[in-house]
Amino acid sequence: MKPRHFASAVEAVSNLKPQHPLMCLCPDVFRAEARRFVAGFPGDIHYAVKANPYPGVLHWLGEGGVTGYDVASIAEIELVRREMGQGAHLAFNHPVKSRADIDTAYRVHGVRDFVVDHGKELAKLADICGRDVTVQVRIARANPDSEVDLNAKFGCDGQTAAQLMRQAADLGFEVALATHVGWQSREPKAWAEAIAMGAGAAAAAGVTLKYANLGGGYPSVLMPQGRTLEDFFEVIRAAKAEHLPGTAFNCEPGSALVWRGCETVAQVVLRKDDRVYLNDGVYGSMAELKYTRVSPPHLALSQDGQPLEGEPKPFTVCGPTCDSVDILPAQVDLPEGVDEGDHVVFGWMGAYSNALLTTFNGLGALEYATVDRLAC
Ligand SMILES: Cc1ncc(COP(=O)(O)O)c(C=O)c1O
Repeated sequence: MKPRHFASAVEAVSNLKPQHPLMCLCPDVFRAEARRFVAGFPGDIHYAVKANPYPGVLHWLGEGGVTGYDVASIAEIELVRREMGQGAHLAFNHPVKSRADIDTAYRVHGVRDFVVDHGKELAKLADICGRDVTVQVRIARANPDSEVDLNAKFGCDGQTAAQLMRQAADLGFEVALATHVGWQSREPKAWAEAIAMGAGAAAAAGVTLKYANLGGGYPSVLMPQGRTLEDFFEVIRAAKAEHLPGTAFNCEPGSALVWRGCETVAQVVLRKDDRVYLNDGVYGSMAELKYTRVSPPHLALSQDGQPLEGEPKPFTVCGPTCDSVDILPAQVDLPEGVDEGDHVVFGWMGAYSNALLTTFNGLGALEYATVDRLAC
């Protein structure tokens, strides 16, 4: 069902008086974030669907210039095929896949790009797929400058990468490089180092890379002071020129493309002294606030959507479940008179929010609206 459309989250609150958490998606922001990557990154922009699988997001990013989709499961593949059609470029970039899923992706959905970081995963591809597949070999470099080092789980060292590249080429596959330098990486040099490492592996293997997939990890709302996304693109461009000048590049950002495009509206169910209990929390759309340093912009509104007046005061913000884990890690400044029925709009809620929603405690209903502009 098409979501209702409003000028902003404020207008959505005054019209809907939402009793459940409400996610307000701003199509123009998604389009603009995609255009920024298209303008700056030296290659194709793919979208990591896991960051926000809301169907409209795929379309708005496509309108902004995203040309492919990084998918991690058959459900994500089906979503992209349903929304974007048979022609959409898909890369199955989970390094650990069941044989059944590889088979379905290859035969039913026409996926021709897969990632591996181990010989046994390569053997699965060799058993199941034709030689019209490109095998991306995912390398890992520890990255202390990221919020979540994704290389703790996936990726291989340079020597293993060279062996896998050689084996993939000998099996008759085209070979590519993949990396993810870590979620919210603060240092552009992480990408330069990964490019150098991948180029070294390819040279040792004696293979020509079809492309290099530079993954996600762009810092977006956690951008270090004084830096911009364009600084990261500049470093990537320079490293490409030095190490892989003739190789096509792509990237597959999740967070950076979608983070700013959504605001969520939560309602105050109870105020107890300097605590407010909201109808949304870390088992709802706020999981990322619990596990990261992100402190989103916010705006308090009355029940009917008027800005709440009053001196700001720090409040402990609790979610609706029975679990004490369900408390935001940082206090939130709200007008001192905030009370039952008022609403709080949180900005920067587009990434890993609705994607991580649970039904814990029988909660987790999330409603959707689209908006012309952001409110926070
Ligand atoms: C393979 C892969 N690509 C891209 C992404 C998106 O990363 P980010 O949200 O840091 O941009 C992820 C996130 O887990 C991933 O696993």
